[in-house]
Amino acid sequence: MYLAFSYSKREFLKLKILFVSAEVNPFAKVGGLGDVAGSLPKFIKKMGHDIRVILPYYGTINNNHQEDCKIEDVPDSSVELEFDGNISKFSLKKCVLPNTNVPVYFVVSYELFGQYDDIYPANHKENFQLKRFIVFSYATLKLVEKINFKPDIIHCNDWHVASIPMYLKSFVDDNIDFFKGIKTLYTIHNLSYQGRSSPDILKFTKIDADKFFHMNGLEFYGKVNWMKGGIIYADKVNTVSENYAKEIQTQEYGEDLDGVLRANSKKLSGILNGVDYSIWNPETDQHIIRKYSKKDLKGKNSCKISLQREYDLEANPYVPVIGMVSRMVEQKGFDLLERILYQLKVMNLQLVILGRGDKKYEKLLLKLNESTSNIRVKTGFNEIRAEKIYAGADMFLLPSRFEPCGLSQLIALKYGTIPIVRKTGGLADTIVDYSSDDSGNGFMFGEYTTTELLNTIKSACKYFENKNLWGRIIMNALSCDFGWQKSAKLYEKLYKDIKREEG
Ligand code: ADP
Ligand code: GLC
Repeated sequence: MYLAFSYSKREFLKLKILFVSAEVNPFAKVGGLGDVAGSLPKFIKKMGHDIRVILPYYGTINNNHQEDCKIEDVPDSSVELEFDGNISKFSLKKCVLPNTNVPVYFVVSYELFGQYDDIYPANHKENFQLKRFIVFSYATLKLVEKINFKPDIIHCNDWHVASIPMYLKSFVDDNIDFFKGIKTLYTIHNLSYQGRSSPDILKFTKIDADKFFHMNGLEFYGKVNWMKGGIIYADKVNTVSENYAKEIQTQEYGEDLDGVLRANSKKLSGILNGVDYSIWNPETDQHIIRKYSKKDLKGKNSCKISLQREYDLEANPYVPVIGMVSRMVEQKGFDLLERILYQLKVMNLQLVILGRGDKKYEKLLLKLNESTSNIRVKTGFNEIRAEKIYAGADMFLLPSRFEPCGLSQLIALKYGTIPIVRKTGGLADTIVDYSSDDSGNGFMFGEYTTTELLNTIKSACKYFENKNLWGRIIMNALSCDFGWQKSAKLYEKLYKDIKREEG
């Protein structure tokens, strides 16, 4: 009786969370960071917490008319901050994540963000990217203080905002009451982008260098490393799959920070990303030629034929179509792909690639449109094209050198498009190789070699020839659930653990 009573007395701990990210879908997205920041907060909000998202007000947002939410100025939100001897004005705009009641704040600075038509504009001025995101991080703290939104937890994502835990500590040390008691979670989406620079930048940051630039702080082999600062000064650190959380503590995947991560392993964990099925779903997708579902797959074939026509390929249901939607960078296995192209050209398959990134790969791959009849490539960032590839392809290729989580393979599964991946990071946590397990949802190879990649593609194509078998693999893929439900609960638990911890 007593037990039952004390149980029911356990109160719901409603948290206030500020979710800080350089990308938030649908306002600003280059890759999976945008997907995560545009979806995880929805699920945390549904659990009853006060979560708010904040990102820079890029010129692209200004130009893109957002249909389902109106962006408005936040009254009395303006602050003046001085960097490099220049005083600049910052203020907030506000709206909600479309179809939700999750508040989204935008940090307005024409000088740093508004004037550019790209999220990460190419700019060769020294430390341009670093400086603008350091200012964004600093301004974020000053702006939430100005509007008096004091979060329990600030959830910082990737190197762009890795300076927040450090600034917070600095403000608390300076006895600014508002910041006392605020905790931080730092999520590593990709360890390979760390924000390194010469110590000259310390003058710009307005921090006491003696306090933060040392072996147990920002300093890394004589340089400043913001990723390291995020790891050191955050209350907890996580990454986006359990496997990647282990991998980054090894020399092979640690990007030089494995020692730092091992030393901080007690506060490090892995939580797999989820997919927002209200966006990625062939049953509701407005951009594909015919919707389909697990119960009725006929539409998938129409999507395939339509994709083949759109890309000027032979419209043939019996030829396997392999799709790729990817940033064109080494991480994603483009160096391997490059070396097997001459074989792919003569195989009985079609390859459709959408991506942007390194100019070297863009140029090289675009040439294939002229020189082959079975490989088609489009460059640029285009969500509608991406959806058509997820729906119309039979297989989805992601032969990554490393992959913290990977959302593309999860999206592909939802569209019944069978992933061919390398066994690494989140790919190893989400894909089960069909050739060794009947419940498998894809095909996977281990060694990062052209031979393994090519053999795995050949083997997948062989399975494709057997329609019954292929149908079973599709059903396995469609039976997977990589929605946010489970992972959002793990984040909620992590937030609560952080909040309850002393100190
Ligand atoms: P990463 O964040 O490393 O790029 P993820 O797999 O986590 O990889 O997420 C990639 C996201 O970006 C997916 O939503 C994918 O569909 C999207 N994407 C990547 N390249 C393009 C492109 N060229 N056009 C449209 N969407 C793209
Ligand atoms: C990164 C990773 C990718 C991950 C995404 C979202 O960009 O490369 O694997 O899915 O962030 O966390």
